[in-house]
Amino acid sequence: MSVLEVRNLSKSFDGEEVLRDVSFDLEKGECLVILGNSGSGKSTCLRCINLLEHPDGGEIIFQGQNILGRHVDENKVRSRINMVFQSFNLFANMSVLDNCIIAQRKVLHRSKEEAKRIAMENLNKVGLAEKAKAFPASLSGGQKQRVAIARSLCMDPEILLFDEPTSALDPLMVAEVCGVMAKLREEGVTMVLVTHQIEFAKKIASKTMFLYSGVVDCLGPTNEIFGNPTPKFKEFLAVELG
Ligand SMILES: Nc1ncnc2c1ncn2[C@@H]1O[C@H](COP(=O)(O)OP(=O)(O)OP(=O)(O)O)[C@@H](O)[C@H]1O
Ligand SMILES: [Mg+2]
Repeated sequence: MSVLEVRNLSKSFDGEEVLRDVSFDLEKGECLVILGNSGSGKSTCLRCINLLEHPDGGEIIFQGQNILGRHVDENKVRSRINMVFQSFNLFANMSVLDNCIIAQRKVLHRSKEEAKRIAMENLNKVGLAEKAKAFPASLSGGQKQRVAIARSLCMDPEILLFDEPTSALDPLMVAEVCGVMAKLREEGVTMVLVTHQIEFAKKIASKTMFLYSGVVDCLGPTNEIFGNPTPKFKEFLAVELG
């Protein structure tokens, strides 16, 4: 069974249709990469999946439940389908450790000791255990993003969403964050990644979806999508790859 089934998702802002009839499935352990031009609806699509935006139509079935239905605990959904943002969104007034602990305490109601243990495990996983007491301002962009990933992992999410996690980073720091994502992929973490890094996308994605003006232009196994590109995808690649 798919972990996530998105059916005919549509979304408009101020009468302008931004997503139309977007449908895809995500299996456990799969990595879906969403590609598309600026403004094609990639972020809106991710934000709909974890209910930061409310779609106008369609269904999002997560583990068999339509999360667009009534009586859905949105905070719980957001902890199960957890987002890593381009701009990190760390709390500046809290240490790295506390950034990783707070949602575990508030949303998952874990004890202080357990939350701390899990935070340290995940900081260790992203190579930042020694920065536990540091504050975000003293970290590099790449380190901040790795903390944000550790913080997400602390929630034991079923799905991790990444919205251009490396696009605010200097080229040198991109590699360290991509390295962490590649490791998660190997561990079988289910993820959806929006990125403009085509070469990395090709390597990490089991499935690729190309959005064009809010519509799915093509969707399928990564090697098929890249091996036999549609005219619009070809044009996109030519521009992106220069
Ligand atoms: N909250 C909002 N209010 C009004 N319009 C919005 C809102 N969010 C997004 N849009 C519009 O929806 C369209 C799709 O935006 P979205 O951010 O999903 O694109 P994107 O593919 O992520 O682009 P980028 O690659 O630049 O991040 C754009 O035209 C954008 O201006
Ligand atoms: Mg975006």
